[in-house]
This record gives sequence, C-alpha cells and structure tokens, in this order.
Amino acid sequence: MVVVPDADALAQAAAHRFVEIAREEIARHGRFTVALSGGSTPRALYRLLAQEPEAIDWARVHVFWGDERTVPPDHEQSNYRMAREALLDHVPIPRDQIHRIEAERDPAEAAARYAATLADVFGLEPGAMPVFDLVLLGVGTDGHTASLFPGTRAVQVQDTPVVENEVPQLNTVRITLTVPVITQAANILVLAAGADKAPAIRRALEAPYAPEQTPAQVIRSARGNVVWLLDAEAASQLEELRPAG
Ligand code: 6PG
Repeated sequence: MVVVPDADALAQAAAHRFVEIAREEIARHGRFTVALSGGSTPRALYRLLAQEPEAIDWARVHVFWGDERTVPPDHEQSNYRMAREALLDHVPIPRDQIHRIEAERDPAEAAARYAATLADVFGLEPGAMPVFDLVLLGVGTDGHTASLFPGTRAVQVQDTPVVENEVPQLNTVRITLTVPVITQAANILVLAAGADKAPAIRRALEAPYAPEQTPAQVIRSARGNVVWLLDAEAASQLEELRPAG
C-alpha cells in the first residue's frame, strides 16, 4: 500500500507506476495490455500521461476498459469518452489498439462482443481468461470496484471474462470484467482519494471477507502485484496505519 498526501500526489504516483509497468511489460513481451477504469479519480492520471506522450511506446499499447456504463461512446458518462478526451486523443496509439466496450448496443451483445475482442487480442483458447499486464481499479463509497456492485450477479460470475450486470441500486445496467480476470492480472493499481472513500477502503482491506457485500475485497485474492494507492483521507480509517497504543 502507498499513502500519499492528496489527490495531486496520487495522480503523480499513479502516473509514475503506470509508466514503469508499461515499460517493464514492453521490455518483457513486446506489448502492454491495460484495462482502464472510469470514474473521476483516474482522470488526473490520464491527463498527466497525456502530457508526456514520449514516456511510453504507445505503438505497443493495447487499451481496454474494466467496465462501462450503458451509454453511447460520446455520452458524458462514458468511460471510453473520458479516457479518450483525457488521454487517448493526445498520444500516438494506433486506433485499432483501442478496444472499447460497445455499450450503445444491447448489454448482453456488448458483453459478448467484448469477450470476443479479448479472445482475439489475447489469442485465447475457448474458455480461457485474459491476463492483463495492468488492471486499473477504483473503489466506490459502497465498496464496488469495476462494475461489481454489492449484491449483484456479476460478483459471483466465474465462467466468462465479461458480463452485463444489472445494478438495481443505480437503476441501470453496467458491463464489467469479472472476478477471475481481475484477480489474475499481472499488476493491479487501485486508486482512491477523499474522506468519503475511507469507510469503503477500510472494509475492502480489513473487514471479514464478504465480497458480495464489499466487492472490492476480491482484490485481496489477486495473484499478481497489487498496489493500493490512497490519499491520506481515503486511508484515514485503516487500522494498519494507526499508531500502536
Ligand atoms: C466506473 C468505474 C468505477 C469507479 C469507482 C470509483 O465506471 O464508475 O470504473 O468502478 O472506479 O466508482 O469512481 P470515482 O473515482 O469516481 O470515485
């Protein structure tokens, strides 16, 4: 876990780690596959990466998303649109290496098409799950991560890499990577900032394991390198960081 003073420092630290992982993976196997997150926290990270396009060999990068809202790609809530505007429009990444979730389609069809894209780009045998070089994640105040929301079906799904997920508490449907894909990534970088995240971060890291209530707990069972990158406010309720006595 890395705790930094504030949201600006969080974005700086995240950009540093993102570049480091991208370079390592490109050196190791010639390309870098990353699943981006949505929400507001990663936007500052994306903007920093856009400011230094030469830091990464973008010709070797394949960009995916961990989840998407069921809106068209130009919608203000689209995770694709956010990443495009903050980052992808500003770096020399080949267009055909940007693999968005086509969330303007029927959700089940969008999930199936995204699964087919994953199988193609990762060269998967039928039934196999992709191993991302990096999965970026956030945590919601309710303990969700990606679009794995408390009490929803997707938290239980093990047999497919991507599903549509009905989220009654938001009265919507999301499309999300599933737990087996997230937990077998080579690297996971979790970003959370702000006091409103502190209870969810404490539950995610320290409460008894009950991922159907706090889906972000599944990150605990990750096999690769996991870095929780938190600002001081988001980390403020962690027992682990409390001075003894
Ligand atoms: C999304 C996400 C989601 C996000 C968290 C935290 O599409 O909303 O990918 O899982 O990471 O909700 O979002 P914030 O950074 O906005 O708090």
